Amino acid sequence: MLIKKPGKIPSSEITSESAYLNRRQFMQGAVAGSLLSALPVSAEQSAIEKAKPLKFKPADKSLAAKGYYTDEALTPFVDVTSYNNFYEFGTGKSDPARYAPNLLKTDPWSIRISGEASKVGEFHLEDILKRFELQERIYRLRCVEAWSMVIPWVGFPLRELISWAQPSSKAKYIAFETLQDARQMPAQRSLTGIIEWPYREGLRMDEAMHDLTLLSIGLYGKTLLPQNGAPIRLVVPWKYGFKSIKSIVGIHFSSTQPTTSWQFIAPQEYGFYANVNPGVDHPRWSQATERRLPSGLFDFSRVDTQMFNGYAEQVAHLYKGMDLRRYY
Ligand code: MTE
Repeated sequence: MLIKKPGKIPSSEITSESAYLNRRQFMQGAVAGSLLSALPVSAEQSAIEKAKPLKFKPADKSLAAKGYYTDEALTPFVDVTSYNNFYEFGTGKSDPARYAPNLLKTDPWSIRISGEASKVGEFHLEDILKRFELQERIYRLRCVEAWSMVIPWVGFPLRELISWAQPSSKAKYIAFETLQDARQMPAQRSLTGIIEWPYREGLRMDEAMHDLTLLSIGLYGKTLLPQNGAPIRLVVPWKYGFKSIKSIVGIHFSSTQPTTSWQFIAPQEYGFYANVNPGVDHPRWSQATERRLPSGLFDFSRVDTQMFNGYAEQVAHLYKGMDLRRYY
């Protein structure tokens, strides 16, 4: 999704992914084994230790038809938490795990709710979370860059928070904002950055109210690590990953379609809808297949991309009659 010219990408960012993942797996093995005492405790390692176990309803196989569960192999925790996109910490896939655990302060955390709703104001995250029961959902995550993972998220349906906020009939869209604080998110200081901060996303209200749209506070049964968007992020499994905005501090109900970060940067490449669609290529690469992580040099696992990331049965009706080549 980079729109930087290749010449501008530092070599540290173009380490081959397989080399990186193999190194990570070696490190994990080493940590589990006898080298443990010899290794310095990395920020990421201490973040893993700080992640709190959550109480939630485990993913239910019998709800596979609703899209809540898939029996595809889970992407290992180490890959989910070390191969990330979180541009506030840099554009390299390893930057978020390297920097976010040290820099992002997630407690206390509050969310500002504004716009066309009755419950507007600043709310402490703990007060928000008291109201909702947590559940686990195993979803595919398909990035627009043509890689994908299978992740066991813990969270609650966004719909429940919307019902609590009581939007008015004027609310047709919902917009989200990530934290903007250059002390915690160093890439926000960069003068050559491509994103106009804060990172912004949005959904049409019917998409936001859909059963599958989740606000996640955890994965693999524990609270989110900073690199995955702690303490709370969106997960919209039928859309490209960039819609799943991390570390949310603002939710706004509006009558008009909000501006979203990637659409603002390159509208010819990234649309507001961003529904996973193998039939509509990105102008610079095909969207027909995806690399299922983890993939190494010798196990390059490519799978066919599915319409709406495999959730067509649940969501296709939302787009009935729409030209999906135009509304990409
Ligand atoms: N949210 C913010 N605030 N900043 C980002 O750079 N990247 C997006 C999305 N949410 C991004 C973000 C993209 S491009 C993807 S693919 C997913 O987060 C990746 O989520 P993950 O790193 O947890 O796999």
